[in-house]
Amino acid sequence: MSDYLPGLAGVPATKSNISDIDGNKGILSYRGYPIEQLAERSSFEETTLLLLDGELPTRQELAEFDEQLRENRRVKYNIRGLMKTLPATGHPMEMLQSAIASLGMFYPGNACLIGGDACEDLFYIHNMTVKIIARMGTIVAMWEHLRNGYDPISPRNDLTYAENFLYMLDGKDPDPMLARIMDVCLILHAEHTINASTFAVLVNASTLASPYSVIASAIGALSGPLHGGANQRVLEMLHEVGSPQNAGAYVDKKLANKEVIWGMGHREYKTKDPRATILQGLVSKLIEERGGNINPMMETALAVEKAAEERLAHKGVYANVDFYSGILYSEMGIPVDQFTAIFAIARSAGWLAHWREQLGDNRIFRPTQMYTGSPSRDYVTLDSRG
Ligand code: COA
Repeated sequence: MSDYLPGLAGVPATKSNISDIDGNKGILSYRGYPIEQLAERSSFEETTLLLLDGELPTRQELAEFDEQLRENRRVKYNIRGLMKTLPATGHPMEMLQSAIASLGMFYPGNACLIGGDACEDLFYIHNMTVKIIARMGTIVAMWEHLRNGYDPISPRNDLTYAENFLYMLDGKDPDPMLARIMDVCLILHAEHTINASTFAVLVNASTLASPYSVIASAIGALSGPLHGGANQRVLEMLHEVGSPQNAGAYVDKKLANKEVIWGMGHREYKTKDPRATILQGLVSKLIEERGGNINPMMETALAVEKAAEERLAHKGVYANVDFYSGILYSEMGIPVDQFTAIFAIARSAGWLAHWREQLGDNRIFRPTQMYTGSPSRDYVTLDSRG
């Protein structure tokens, strides 16, 4: 039997041609295209289609897909009714997981995945992919109103995905610069090889469960603070640090207590996460655009990153994607506990690309274990146990 590797570190769980990371050089690409180029030139809609189909779409393919996403933004009254019954104090990720799992009851049909008619399979797979991606943003934005006791704002189909999401949050036409920043954030978070939530996708997909169950399980995995939940923790940490002068002492105290610095470190990257560099650039751009009038947390963030890097770089621990995203979201007026849900909206593109790839060459996941329990023994009756 091969060696046990905790956390399956370095163990290939699948073959995939969707994205790639060179962790030593800090390179990330989707279908071969560098993340920097996609962040600069693509849109979330186009990047999603690239992830799903493997190639940059033609103008017509993109227009058709975009149209399908726009037409599928609305959710049924029953889902809204269900969301209303959830506790307003609950975490948005738990709401999102429940709402997506519930959607599966409205769109059954995964029986066709079991060796059914191939055309029907393809139709089902495409249709469900569009429905899920289109509705993730709607559900997250709806929750912001429902949990505050208001009716949600209906989606608009004359807006892009990012614009519509911001519009649904506050009912105003979004600032074009903030909408583009949101679009870039969605691109950056759309895919990232076989991390914990994507691995959850593979395991669930391999059982031929419905895509709603597959995505609900991935949302659960993403919600943890060691994964997507870190973006919320970063902002809370920056509030705790308070000002740049406190950064060094704060980091020292955390490390002395064997606690992690949120938004730092990554299993794959041994240098700065390229997405963190892009997000940091967007924050700087926003500062410039606003004449320096931006959240003072940015300076605190820079000081914490520097202090953490000085103490942790020898372990290959640098800023990851979650370090700067929260500062941008808070500039858009988005509540901190919604940050991970925005990550999930974007990642639904990558998750569904992996769902499709898994279905294309499926074998159920069934790893083995190293048993560390008692040797075989005979049952002892309750009376004889004293
Ligand atoms: N703060 C302080 N120390 C950290 C650290 C962090 N954020 N991330 C890693 N380290 C240290 C570990 O303590 C360990 O030190 P040791 O060798 O002295 O024991 C070393 O760096 C290697 O880290 P390890 O925990 O083995 O890495 P991993 O690959 O198992 O875990 C993460 C990766 C992401 C879970 C981890 O870096 C982490 O907890 N980061 C903070 C949470 C976060 O931002 N998550 C979002 C990821 S996108």
